[in-house]
Amino acid sequence: MASIETYFPTGIVTGDAFCNREHEREYLAKRFQQNAHVVLMSPRRYGKSSLIAQFTVEQNVPFSAIDLLPATSGKYIKNAIINGVTQLLDAIMPRMKKSKQRLLAHFAKMNPVIELSAFGQRIKLNPDDKTDEETVMKLLMSLDEAAQEMNKKIIFVMDEFQQIALVENSHSLEASIRHAVERSKNVFYVFSGSNRTLLEDMFNNMNRPLYHLCDEIKLNRISEDYYIPFINNAAKATWRSTLADDCLAKIMALTECHPYYVNRLCRSLWDSSSLPDVEFVERTWQTYIEAQKIDWVADMISQLSINQKKILVHLAKNPNIQIQSKRVANKVGMVGSSIQRTVEILLRGDLIYKDNNGNYRVLNPVIKAILANDKYS
Ligand SMILES: Nc1ncnc2c1ncn2[C@@H]1O[C@H](COP(=O)(O)OP(=O)(O)OP(=O)(O)O)[C@@H](O)[C@H]1O
Ligand SMILES: [Mg+2]
Repeated sequence: MASIETYFPTGIVTGDAFCNREHEREYLAKRFQQNAHVVLMSPRRYGKSSLIAQFTVEQNVPFSAIDLLPATSGKYIKNAIINGVTQLLDAIMPRMKKSKQRLLAHFAKMNPVIELSAFGQRIKLNPDDKTDEETVMKLLMSLDEAAQEMNKKIIFVMDEFQQIALVENSHSLEASIRHAVERSKNVFYVFSGSNRTLLEDMFNNMNRPLYHLCDEIKLNRISEDYYIPFINNAAKATWRSTLADDCLAKIMALTECHPYYVNRLCRSLWDSSSLPDVEFVERTWQTYIEAQKIDWVADMISQLSINQKKILVHLAKNPNIQIQSKRVANKVGMVGSSIQRTVEILLRGDLIYKDNNGNYRVLNPVIKAILANDKYS
C-alpha cells in the first residue's frame, strides 16, 4: 500500500512525490542541451531543490549540488567548490589507471591524490595557497577539461548562491566564476537561491561580473490544476477513493498552493485511516497552525514594526484589495508614502508577494491564518 512517504515525504521530493513543474523541467532540459546556464529563484520552500533534483534524475547524468548558505568567507566558498568538483570527478573517473592519471593531469597543480575509503576510491584535491578566486577559477576550468576528456556532460548546482555577494572579496570571486562558466562546454551550471533582491542584482546589474551570464527561471506556486489530480492519485492509492471536491478545495484554499504547506497538510491528513472530509481538513490545519504559532510565528510577528504588522494584518484579512487605495490608508491610519515603503520592505523580506492579479498577499499561509484570526485590530 502506498504510504505517506511515497507521496508526501519530508525534504526534497522526486518521483511519485513530485508534482508538475512540466514547463520548468522542459526549459531546464533545453538549456542543458544548449549548455546555457540558469539561475533559479523563488521564495523559500517553493521547490527549487526538488525541481533541480527531479531534473537531474531525469537527465541521468552526474551532478553535484553545494549549499552556500553558511558561507561567510571566500575560503568557505572555495572549499565548497572543491567538494563539488571532487564529487563530480569521482563520478566520471574512468577505471583504467592510465586514463585516471590522464584525467587527474588536468588538476596537476592541485596535488590530486586518490584515497581508498570504506566507500571506495575518493579523489582529494589540495590546491596550493593561491587566492581563493584563482583557485575557484582553476577548479572550474579544470573540471570542464576533465568532463570534455571523458566526453561526459555533468551538472553543477550552487544553491543559495547569493551568499557570494556578501563575502569580502565577492567581486573577484564572481569574476572568476564568470570566467570559468562562460567558457564551460561540458559542465552545465544551475545557480539558485531565495534572496531575489541579491540574486537579481548579481545577474542583472551591468556593473556586476555575472551580468547576463544566465537565463532566469522564477519559480511560482504549483497550480490547483496540477495539485488536484496529484492529490487524488495519492488518495486513490491510500483509501481507494478520491477526495470530495469540497475537501480538495479546502486543502487548496488553506495552503494557497504553497508547495511546502500542501505537503505538510497532506502529510497529516494521510495519517488518517479513513478518507478525510472537509471538517477533518480544517481541524488538522488548525492544529498545525496552533503548533506553528507557539513554535516560531509568534516570535516572528513580535519582531515586525507596527507599520509592517498593520499592513500584514490588513492583507491577511483582505487578500483581494488594492493596498494603495485611500480607503486602506484611512483604515490602517498610514499615509500613502508610508504604505508604499512598508510594502517594499515586506516584499523584499518575502513576507508578501504580488499575485497574478497584481494584488499583494501574505506569502506564508500559516502567518496569514494567524494574522487573519487577530481579533483586536
Ligand atoms: N514539485 C513538487 N511537488 C510536490 N511537492 C513539492 C514540489 N516542490 C516542492 N514541494 C514541497 O515543498 C517542500 C520544499 O521544497 P524544496 O526544499 O525543494 O524547496 P526550496 O525552494 O529548495 O526550499 P529552500 O528555500 O528552503 O531551499 C518540499 O519538502 C516538498 O514538500
Ligand atoms: Mg533548497
